[in-house]
Amino acid sequence: AIGEIISEAKVSSSTEPLLLSAVKGEKVERPPVWLMRQAGRYMKSYQLICEKYPSFRERSENVDLVVEISLQPWKVFKPDGVILFSDILTPLPGMNIPFDIVKGKGPIIYDPLRTAEDVSKVREFVPEEFVPYVGEALTTLRAEVKNEAAVLGFVGAPFTLASYVVEGGSSKHFSKIKRMAFSQPEVLHALLQKFMTSMAQYIKYQADHGAQAVQIFDSWATELSPADFEEFSLPYLKQIVDSVKSTHPNLPLILYASGSGGLLERLSLTGVDVVSLDWTVDMAEGRRRLGADVAVQGNVDPGVLFGSKDFITKRINDTVNKAGNHKHILNLGHGIVVGTPEENVAHFFEVAKGIRY
Ligand code: CP3
Repeated sequence: AIGEIISEAKVSSSTEPLLLSAVKGEKVERPPVWLMRQAGRYMKSYQLICEKYPSFRERSENVDLVVEISLQPWKVFKPDGVILFSDILTPLPGMNIPFDIVKGKGPIIYDPLRTAEDVSKVREFVPEEFVPYVGEALTTLRAEVKNEAAVLGFVGAPFTLASYVVEGGSSKHFSKIKRMAFSQPEVLHALLQKFMTSMAQYIKYQADHGAQAVQIFDSWATELSPADFEEFSLPYLKQIVDSVKSTHPNLPLILYASGSGGLLERLSLTGVDVVSLDWTVDMAEGRRRLGADVAVQGNVDPGVLFGSKDFITKRINDTVNKAGNHKHILNLGHGIVVGTPEENVAHFFEVAKGIRY
């Protein structure tokens, strides 16, 4: 009976968001759930805001709009994580790299960086000075969602940010950044170094203003071979993690890379708390390869949300079973796709939140 009372006390004293308890490996009744890109174009309410405010920069840099858009999925689906509406490119103008996001084209960097001189003009990022709206929005989100969900911040990883600013936008073959990496590596290293110190600062700033966990997106690191990943991505990720842990030891860090099956073990070498898997790796195998210390997130193919409701239910259950009954955050393996039926998203959350270990 004493054991029962103690374990009851342990459960009821936990007022922190489910997502944080799960990352720590505490006993939770179900996996927490949120979706990458949960705020965005698949939602009617977001499309209405886009009509009124056609500029992505404005939507993502105005405190009231950022808060409103971040809360859109929260109000409808009650996910266990509420991610800030922003972009990995948002810090770039503060580093002297102007960008825009153009409908139908994606991100555009007007003056791509190609030389040592270009890189020398990149400024260190000072979040307080250049993105005060991010801090304000995170603080407001924390007050809005209280402890019912975790407020999530995010940053782009050095290599992924470098790929945008060197290529000039999204890329298929990554030939320009590879030309730099394989003919003037010192220039790329100088750029990666600047992104590393800047993003470490940015993560700390987000945590100090209300983010309870921060996801690092190294979406395109998997364009590198394992040996090149070890030169151009891993050391910078590791330094970010070390720097953040030295001042914010309890802030959970999540790492995502697209197509990461070949790099899983190397991703966990960064020291992050959670590795976010895409759907090209089996969840049970991913879990085995990563080891017991690391929590796992993700793994459901975003395309599943175009399937029937029964199919969606089945895939959720498969994923949860393979992940085991602890240290798992249920999520997609990449961002939710434009055109995904909102009712299927609602079904996804309903089934996910009804799971009991
Ligand atoms: O998850 C969320 O809901 C938070 C919002 C969020 C956005 N971008 C908003 C956005 C997050 C977490 C991101 C991260 C991001 N941005 C990544 C890493 C995640 C990943 O997908 O791998 C990357 C690589 C970017 C760069 C970027 N920004 C791309 C490739 C695009 C798509 C371009 C297009 O036209 O489809 C963007 C634009 C962007 N960022 C949109 C949204 C909702 C779509 C454009 C719009 O809404 O007007």
